[in-house]
Amino acid sequence: MNKIISLCKRRGFVFQSSEIYGGFSSCYDFGPLGVEMKNNIKRVWWDEMIKNHENIVGLDAAILMKPEIWKASGHLTAGFADTLVECKSCHKRYRADEVDSKVCPECGGELTKPRKFNLMMKTFVGPVEEDAATTYLRAETCQGIYVNFENVLNSMRLKIPFGIAQIGKSFRNEITPKDFIFRTREFEQMEMQWFCHPKTAAKYFNYWIKERLNWYLNLGIKKENLRIKEHKKEELPHYAKAGTDIEYHFPFGWREIEGIHNRGDWDLSNHAKNSGKDLSYYNEETKEKYIPYIIETSGGVDRSFFVFLIDAYQEIKGGRTETTKAAKEIEILLKLDKKLTPIKVAVLPLVRNKPNIVKKAKEVYEMLKPHFMCQYDELGSIGRRYRRQDEIATIYAVTIDFETLEKEDVTIRDRDTMKQERVKIKDLISVLKEKLGF
Ligand code: GAP
Repeated sequence: MNKIISLCKRRGFVFQSSEIYGGFSSCYDFGPLGVEMKNNIKRVWWDEMIKNHENIVGLDAAILMKPEIWKASGHLTAGFADTLVECKSCHKRYRADEVDSKVCPECGGELTKPRKFNLMMKTFVGPVEEDAATTYLRAETCQGIYVNFENVLNSMRLKIPFGIAQIGKSFRNEITPKDFIFRTREFEQMEMQWFCHPKTAAKYFNYWIKERLNWYLNLGIKKENLRIKEHKKEELPHYAKAGTDIEYHFPFGWREIEGIHNRGDWDLSNHAKNSGKDLSYYNEETKEKYIPYIIETSGGVDRSFFVFLIDAYQEIKGGRTETTKAAKEIEILLKLDKKLTPIKVAVLPLVRNKPNIVKKAKEVYEMLKPHFMCQYDELGSIGRRYRRQDEIATIYAVTIDFETLEKEDVTIRDRDTMKQERVKIKDLISVLKEKLGF
């Protein structure tokens, strides 16, 4: 964990929020490489949902909504609350399920009796700070989907079954945010809500569990680090009839990375009741009218970001390159899938003190830049530069050497095999596009 956290900071993936002011607990900023990788995760998910399914459409609903929505969804009642205990002496709070004894793990003080603590984050809309102006930052993105069910259905002339996908920020006043970006108070979710006939809900529930598990496997997560955990009745969230988690084997144990839920007609029925709007669906062919059931897939962007990093992280003792072998150092290799890696191509002049080579390398960089996320690097020995790129998962390194000046070709080095091949500069864009699957 510490090695990954250190890599994240050193190489510009993740920084502590408000760091120069001492840090703001449980909030994180994504640096230049982090934001690229995060955008890649979102793009791959979006493509999977929207491009690979003809009956899933997208949505981007507002974070702020009428507070009535959160009453109808059950989030303002005990349903969306954690049970906490507080130390009577140092006032530190813990989730009741995380402390074994009746005393504070920090100072040994006596703990209060467990009580419910709602996770919704309050805010005020408008110039006056009064109850009438109170609303909440959304705690899950899917409520924006439910209240737009009719708009999307009618405007897109959809027929059941169909899905609505959305990516966006959610907020929860977690009692014990912890484990780096695993549990934070501000995070991003990728959620897809599948509207179907109640009789088909069980079939689609199983279908989406398999689909979502395969998504992680196809992006290179090791099979042995993933498992499915079915929820027992008493573990289900307040809205669900059935629920299954996809879990990952983190350095701190098996934990949820995505939830697949059969939400039944909970959401549409409650919104219909509270808004007064009929949210049932009418099937023209069978003349049947019913409230659709919802199967949801709910994953965290930040949490899968963390998983992809942990799973890709490798340390090679003695190193793979001449420099490290000689120095008996440890080389870090981040074996991210090429779709997720923040930098696709590094452009490296073999040496820095030959103006012709540097000039040519800059020309190649300018040529590639509009097509791929590229990085130009001329500092240090070529071996060190390969290592720096391996550490941030750059998939190809293009090196400009003495031969380039005579033959107009360069070498492409593959991150994983370290094999090098010579390619003509005029063919470079198309060769790289083919390799990267663009
Ligand atoms: N709409 C259903 C829902 O929100 P959830 O199991 O509470 O279900 C779904 O959350 C996913 O959102 C989790 O599997 C996780 O990836 C992410 N998530 C939830 N709370 C989080 C937090 N505090 N920090 C980071 N990610 C979180």
